[in-house]
Amino acid sequence: MLKTIFYIIIIAAVIGAAVGGWHLYRVAQRNAEEMAQYEGKTITAKPLAGKTLIVYYSLQNHTKDIAERIQKMTGGELYEIKTKEKIDTAPWFYLTLKKQLAEQKYPVLSGNLPDFSKYDTIFVGGPVWWYTVSTPMRAFLQQADFAGKKVVPFTTQGSNYGTYFEDFAQMAKNANLQKSASFNNLSAKYNPAVDNKIAVWLNSL
Ligand SMILES: Cc1cc2nc3c(=O)[nH]c(=O)nc-3n(C[C@H](O)[C@H](O)[C@H](O)COP(=O)(O)O)c2cc1C
Repeated sequence: MLKTIFYIIIIAAVIGAAVGGWHLYRVAQRNAEEMAQYEGKTITAKPLAGKTLIVYYSLQNHTKDIAERIQKMTGGELYEIKTKEKIDTAPWFYLTLKKQLAEQKYPVLSGNLPDFSKYDTIFVGGPVWWYTVSTPMRAFLQQADFAGKKVVPFTTQGSNYGTYFEDFAQMAKNANLQKSASFNNLSAKYNPAVDNKIAVWLNSL
């Protein structure tokens, strides 16, 4: 009996590793294909009209990285959404975060909202959590009112952004929504291509 359980565990682990490996391979292939179109000479972003704010939430610094690149290209100002309590980054905590999303239990944010009245365009970026908008970003959107502002949503993700942008659109009160963009977590070798992707996107706004 114990032997059978042992074999079942081994077979399940092998199948799990194979499925995981195949998924990672497919994501890497898709990224390489997408980024190939942005390789080559540096594309310059044209200035945006008016004043720009870049609001972001980032648990593991991927969105922060993209937000900072947007800031460099637009000359805008950065605002980081911060939670009062630190959010755990351990993999087993992902399930707790999933439960909090389902129960609409969002964290308390620290600091005041930025003064939107000073800006014309507001970029709002955050990570994809469970195919949708993260709980800290939801807490921010509950407080924000974007009346009269152009809002440019962006996200970072590991492979699939699911319904992030539809969900964001429902929550961003009175936003004049502009073209969104999503960025996969990529290795540093893609940095110049990612900059070009951002520049192409900014030039399309
Ligand atoms: C709780 C949790 C759930 C996640 N769910 C998804 C998901 O559904 N799809 C996906 O592509 N990536 C998912 N990810 C990966 C993040 O979206 C990705 O690593 C993102 O770039 C993290 O951004 P950050 O470093 O700014 O926090 C998840 C990460 C966490 C922590």
